[in-house]
Amino acid sequence: MNPTKQAKIFDTHAKMYGKRRQKTTIDTKWRHELLAKADGDILELSAGTGTNFPIYQNISSLTAVDFSLEMVRYAREAAKETTYPCTVLHKDVEKLEFEENTFDTVVSTLSMCSYPHPAFVLEQMAKWCKPGGQVLLFEHGVSTNPLVGKLQKKVDPFLSERIGCHVDRDMLDYVKHSSLHVSRIESHLFGMFHLIIATKREV
Ligand SMILES: C[S@@+](CC[C@H](N)C(=O)[O-])C[C@H]1O[C@@H](n2cnc3c(N)ncnc32)[C@H](O)[C@@H]1O
Repeated sequence: MNPTKQAKIFDTHAKMYGKRRQKTTIDTKWRHELLAKADGDILELSAGTGTNFPIYQNISSLTAVDFSLEMVRYAREAAKETTYPCTVLHKDVEKLEFEENTFDTVVSTLSMCSYPHPAFVLEQMAKWCKPGGQVLLFEHGVSTNPLVGKLQKKVDPFLSERIGCHVDRDMLDYVKHSSLHVSRIESHLFGMFHLIIATKREV
């Protein structure tokens, strides 16, 4: 999908995400579990309305990115409440440019479903992460349950055009074939949601 059209779809979701930020939902526990590992200078891709901002503890700084202007507006409000320096950039993740080895932790939660080129974004995450740093992912994708997975594949063409995100991506396979070295994976809800802790593969 054209990124401008996709960003506009996410603009229409921003109010709902903004409200959700203030609530405890099924994924709150998983976000806390994963982001407790975040450390130092953080890059968060496709941060939405800033749902994760209050969860980070004892970090040095956060650079958050999103291409939906409405999401960014909410995230900039959320950034005013953080105890650490927080910058929210209005940018397309696939066009972002940072120096190699810039961040101690690179985070993505529920965003890999949206990119036209998820494998490329994983490589960028590995590139921007410092050696010895961590890449933290909380992503959804095709279920490890064959029946649920079949249903997801069937509805994906219809859903992705409307909500801007794919429900049939095999996220574990994408990560397995990336430059990331996985140190831990935890899967939930019929194997549809994954918490992944990874480091940059040593060359
Ligand atoms: C499902 S929401 C998740 C938001 C947030 N990460 C969270 O965990 O609540 C997906 C987010 O990805 C953003 N997004 C999707 N593709 C993007 C891209 N290419 N560049 C920047 N942001 C993108 C959308 O605007 C939206 O805010």
